[in-house]
Amino acid sequence: MQHLMSPLDLSVEELDRLLTLANDIESHPQKYAHACEGKKLATCFYEPSTRTRLSFEAAMLNLGGSVLGFSTADSSSAAKGESVSDTIRVISCYADICAMRHPKEGAPLVASQKSTIPVINAGDGGHQHPTQTLTDLLTIRSLKGRLDNLTIGLCGDLKFGRTVHSLIHALIRYPNIRFMLISPEELRVPSYIREDVLRKNQVPFQEVERLEEAMGQLDILYMTRVQRERFFNEDDYVRMKDFYILNKKKMALAKEDMIVMHPLPRVNEISVDVDDDPRAAYFKQAQYGVYVRMALILTLMEVSVC
Ligand code: CP
Repeated sequence: MQHLMSPLDLSVEELDRLLTLANDIESHPQKYAHACEGKKLATCFYEPSTRTRLSFEAAMLNLGGSVLGFSTADSSSAAKGESVSDTIRVISCYADICAMRHPKEGAPLVASQKSTIPVINAGDGGHQHPTQTLTDLLTIRSLKGRLDNLTIGLCGDLKFGRTVHSLIHALIRYPNIRFMLISPEELRVPSYIREDVLRKNQVPFQEVERLEEAMGQLDILYMTRVQRERFFNEDDYVRMKDFYILNKKKMALAKEDMIVMHPLPRVNEISVDVDDDPRAAYFKQAQYGVYVRMALILTLMEVSVC
């Protein structure tokens, strides 16, 4: 039985098959409409979510299956002190596959060790968010036509941003990838990413503080939100939260075929006047999240459709 804790759980070849399946689902949704009839997805979310939980649920419903679950820790028996290990043993009796989000890093991994159904990490603290990465890779491959030969600007909260950490891990496996890491000093990528992931794998990267310095070089600009929930100190959050605001003026510095991505939700970091720019890909990205989660459910449940 296969779980998904990190994007690296899938080889490049497996990832390629998954993304190709997601593209086929996008083109031929009816072909997959009954693929999971009689199967149930449990969404166990101990932390808030709109896209991840609802796109997982939409994915299973689109496949003809059913969904059950909880959307806050308070509405589950976690509020009475139940452990994640006990919860997943019970959920394994009720569902065929589980997507779990948890504020504690490693909690979905602990669950997977006690589970008798596939467990998908739907985001664990500041650690990993592999299905966002699958969404991002599908978006990049579909809109840019490739996953290699790209300069990617990652902007905003690179310290706590789990989507950024997962995306870096996934993209370094492709040739000729270069990163521009755009953040204030306090929100730079953790040193283990800089040293053990980028430098160790000889992936070229540059760290800059000003978005304007990077704009003209980028094939992809990946904006992120400064996450209030990850700060211990409200004053630090207030100081950082509007550090970057992408607007029309900054977009004028970018290549004509650059795309702007964002895992969403956004707060102020992308001005709404950018939404109508043809290079704004973040809502399309959210749509790709449904196709790729459908492909993931089929893959982990070993359902094949002819
Ligand atoms: N991108 C993302 O994880 O969004 P949600 O927090 O709404 O699930």
